Amino acid sequence: MATPRVLMVCLGNICRSPMAEGILKHKAQLQGLDVFIDSAGTSSWHQGEQPDGRAQEEMLKNGIDISDQNSRPFRPDDFDHFDHILVMDTSNKANVLSLARTAEDKAKVKLILDFGSEKKGNSVPDPYYDDSFDRVYDLLDYACDAFLQELK
Ligand code: 4NP
Repeated sequence: MATPRVLMVCLGNICRSPMAEGILKHKAQLQGLDVFIDSAGTSSWHQGEQPDGRAQEEMLKNGIDISDQNSRPFRPDDFDHFDHILVMDTSNKANVLSLARTAEDKAKVKLILDFGSEKKGNSVPDPYYDDSFDRVYDLLDYACDAFLQELK
């Protein structure tokens, strides 16, 4: 089977989607699963920057180093290179869907919290302003487990 390719998407690509990328990579590695994982932002506001220091700190608390990541904007050709495009909130979803060219593109886009039974339809809150990085970690940890379960 071809290696599944997963793109995590948020607004700035410095908080939620880098954390989601790091968590999913860590879990896939622990489970011996071959999955290609990347992340992007719907804006280019932080292009080239490392993840927010608070996101890096929260991840390190959980044993995961994401200092090698750099923000980049989502591009329409990401639809050609990824099988699953997991967005953090409903605004990210609308922005990504507005760039979709085909029904096949649209079908790749899902809210990350649609994975798992507890939070379907919900958004991952943006921790950039309210510092809720530990809550975001827990939500993403749960959703990434559920996503890998479905992928297997
Ligand atoms: P993220 O958080 O979308 O989870 O990376 C944000 C990062 C930066 C900004 C907003 C949200 N900003 O306004 O610069």
